[in-house]
Amino acid sequence: MRAVVMDRLGGPEVLRVQEVAEPVPGPGEVLVAVAYAGITFVETQVRAGTGPAAGQAPPLPRIPGNGVGGRVLVVGPRVDPGLAGTTVVTTTGGAGGYAELAVARAEDLTPVPAGVPLRDAVALLADGRTAVLVHRQAGVRPGEWVLVEAAGGGVGSLLVQLAAASGAKVIGAARGRAKAGLVTSLGALACVDYSVPGWERAVVERTGGVDVVFDGVGGEVGAQGMLAVRPGGRASLYGMASGSWTEPAAHVTLVPRSVPAPAEIRALAEEALAHAAAGRLRPVVGQTYPLAEAAEAHRAIEARATTGKTLLIP
Ligand SMILES: NC(=O)c1ccc[n+]([C@@H]2O[C@H](COP(=O)([O-])OP(=O)(O)OC[C@H]3O[C@@H](n4cnc5c(N)ncnc54)[C@H](OP(=O)(O)O)[C@@H]3O)[C@@H](O)[C@H]2O)c1
Repeated sequence: MRAVVMDRLGGPEVLRVQEVAEPVPGPGEVLVAVAYAGITFVETQVRAGTGPAAGQAPPLPRIPGNGVGGRVLVVGPRVDPGLAGTTVVTTTGGAGGYAELAVARAEDLTPVPAGVPLRDAVALLADGRTAVLVHRQAGVRPGEWVLVEAAGGGVGSLLVQLAAASGAKVIGAARGRAKAGLVTSLGALACVDYSVPGWERAVVERTGGVDVVFDGVGGEVGAQGMLAVRPGGRASLYGMASGSWTEPAAHVTLVPRSVPAPAEIRALAEEALAHAAAGRLRPVVGQTYPLAEAAEAHRAIEARATTGKTLLIP
């Protein structure tokens, strides 16, 4: 089968498509014919050896990719044979997703609800569970002002929708006009461009200081976002696309972060898919790339040239 293999850390060029042996599902596992493989931002950082896991090099060589959707082709020993032929989305346990075939644990499989296209389900798998989790942890209430950074990105575009559906007044922050248009189309009352100096003051002028900030960017943007929070407001710091975490600020309460157990992770994904089936959440698949162009996809994500979710099509 064809798969994207990296045998060293480095730039996007380390992602190369190769012929490799087909994986064989072991006990409790299945083999999935991958129709879509999700790319998450953190995978660009793992590839480069930067980000939250910098200094913990993954085993190499490696097929990246932690989320796929497709049809179950083969079931391994001690797996319900009835799963064969079903269409599912699933984690791959951390690696192996950028490939024509991927192995997953049967217990990780999530059925795709009726009415949700497979590509939307794959787009929601990681970003949806993260957005549902951090939205819930922040306890967004009706009438609150909520600032979402990187609001045109994968998780951000879902947070905008979840916060708006909670009755909050959402203000997005992103770079450039195209992303601003997307963010307001998803339910934000406004979207500020955080590449314009003083953007956080514009947020305060509009809102009087937000009640909640969702920060997946960190660094300078994260620090500026903290200044847009009213005293006693809350900050959910869930990512560091800039390369560094946001420093806590004395006037803001940090929303505690917890790492969910595997069963909870699957339940969160199921919840995101149920929202999609009910028409409450619309994943934005901004771009797709053929498997052979995985390096190009990573390049675009790093260049901040993508909107919403990026998927690979084997
Ligand atoms: N996806 C998940 O399930 C998940 C889980 C846990 C944590 N996270 C974290 O959440 C954050 C967002 O993840 P995502 O997968 O949804 O990614 P994403 O939002 O699709 O992409 C990252 C976004 O961050 C913004 N950004 C700001 N500064 C940047 C910089 N210096 N370099 C690159 N991008 C920059 C870009 O938007 P602008 O151009 O508008 O600034 C870009 O679109 C990441 O930090 C990620 O590690 C994600």
